[in-house]
Amino acid sequence: MTLFDIAPAKTGDTFVRHDPKFLDMVFGTDQVTPLWVADMDFAVAAPIQEELSRLADRGQFAYEFNSKGVFAAISDWFRRRHDLILDVEKFEQIPGVLSAIALLIRELTEPGDSVLMQVPAYHQFAKVISTAGRKIVKSPLRNIDGAYEMDYADLEEKLSAADVKAMILCNPHNPVGRVWRRDELEKLVEVANRHNVTIISDEIHSDIIYTGHRFTSLMAVDPKIHVSVIGSPAKTFGMHSISNGYIYTANEELLDRFKKTAESMYLTHGNAFTTFATIAAYEKGDVWVDELLTYLEATAAWIDQFLEEELPAVKMSPVEGTYQVWLDCSATGLAGDDLKATLGQSGFGATPGTWFDQDATQFIRVNIAAPRAEIEKAFSQFKSVLDRAMDARAQGIAPAGSKACAGASTNSCC
Ligand SMILES: Cc1ncc(COP(=O)(O)O)c(C=O)c1O
Repeated sequence: MTLFDIAPAKTGDTFVRHDPKFLDMVFGTDQVTPLWVADMDFAVAAPIQEELSRLADRGQFAYEFNSKGVFAAISDWFRRRHDLILDVEKFEQIPGVLSAIALLIRELTEPGDSVLMQVPAYHQFAKVISTAGRKIVKSPLRNIDGAYEMDYADLEEKLSAADVKAMILCNPHNPVGRVWRRDELEKLVEVANRHNVTIISDEIHSDIIYTGHRFTSLMAVDPKIHVSVIGSPAKTFGMHSISNGYIYTANEELLDRFKKTAESMYLTHGNAFTTFATIAAYEKGDVWVDELLTYLEATAAWIDQFLEEELPAVKMSPVEGTYQVWLDCSATGLAGDDLKATLGQSGFGATPGTWFDQDATQFIRVNIAAPRAEIEKAFSQFKSVLDRAMDARAQGIAPAGSKACAGASTNSCC
C-alpha cells in the first residue's frame, strides 16, 4: 500500500473532474470513474501541503512576491532532474501554460497568420489559436502500429507556407504519450529554422517520464533561435488549481517583448500560495515525484497486462511519458457515438479521442493518475460492457445510443 493507493477523502463536486454536471454532459451519466480531466486524484506532497498551511495560518495576505525564488527553484530542479542548465534571468512568470501560449501566439504572429499544431493534440491548442484570430494548420502524427512519429514531409510542406509563423510543440506529447528524442527534435528545429517558424514548446509534462526514456527540452536543442519553452508545476506535483506557469527562452528579443507585454498586463507575479507552493515543490518534491513515477509506471504495466489478457481488442500506444494513455479501440468494431455510449454504460470516464483529433473516432484517452483500485475497477467494467457490445455487434444488434456530448469540452482546462 502506498500513498497513492489512498484516494483523498471525498474530493468534492466542485472539482471539474468529479462535477456531476460535467460528467453527465460528457458521459450521459454522473456514475463514472472520472479518468478524463488531466489532473490527479492524489493528495499533494507533504512539503507543499505544509507550505500552504503555513501561509493560510498566518491569516495575513499582504503583497508578497518572489519570482526570483521561483526561477531559482525551477532551474535547480531542471539541473538536478534533467541535466539542463537554465539561466534564471531568462524566465518570466505567467499564470499558466495556456495563458503563456496565448500571449506568445500574439507576440509571434499577426491576426490572420497560421499556427501549426500536430494532431492528435491537447484540445485547448485549437482554441488558443483560433480565439487569437489565427488559423489552425494541422500536421497529423504518423501512427505506426500504435507508435507515433512526426511526419517530417508533411511538416516540411506546411511550415514552408508563408502564413505559418509559429508552431506549438507538445513535449512530452498529450495525448499520445511520446517523449520526443533529441534527434527528432533536432530534425524538427532544422525544418522550422529553415522556414523562420518559431516553435512554442509546451513542456508541462516534462517530469512524467518513464524508464528507458529521457526528457529533452527544446532548450537543449536550440537555446537561441526562435524557440521558447513553457511549463508549470501543475502536472508534476498535482498543483492544477494553484499552478504557476512560466516561459523560458534564450531568444533575448522575444523574451524582452514578451516581458513587456506580460508586465503591461500585470501578469508576471503569482500570488503567495502559488509562489511558495511552487518553491516548496521544486525544492523538496523529489522523493514524492520519484514515488509517483514508480506508481504510475506500475499502473501502466497493469493496464498493459490487463489489455493483453482480458481485452486484446484494445491496444495501448507505448507509454513513454505523461499520465495520459492512448487506447486504440478499432478492433472492437466500435467508434464514435457507439464507443462513447460504452464509456457511459460502463462508467469508464475516459476522454473520447475526437476531443484531440476529429478523425480519432476509435480512440480514447485515459488519465491514470488515480489510485490503482479505481483504475482496475474502471477497466473491468469497461471490459464487461465492451464484451457485451462486441457480442451484440457480432449478432447484428445495434448498440444503445449515447446522450453523451459529441464535441470537445465546454470548460477551459481538461
Ligand atoms: C499539454 C498541456 N498544456 C497545457 C495544459 C494546461 O496548462 P495550464 O493549466 O497551466 O494552462 C495542459 C493540461 O492538461 C496540457 O496537457
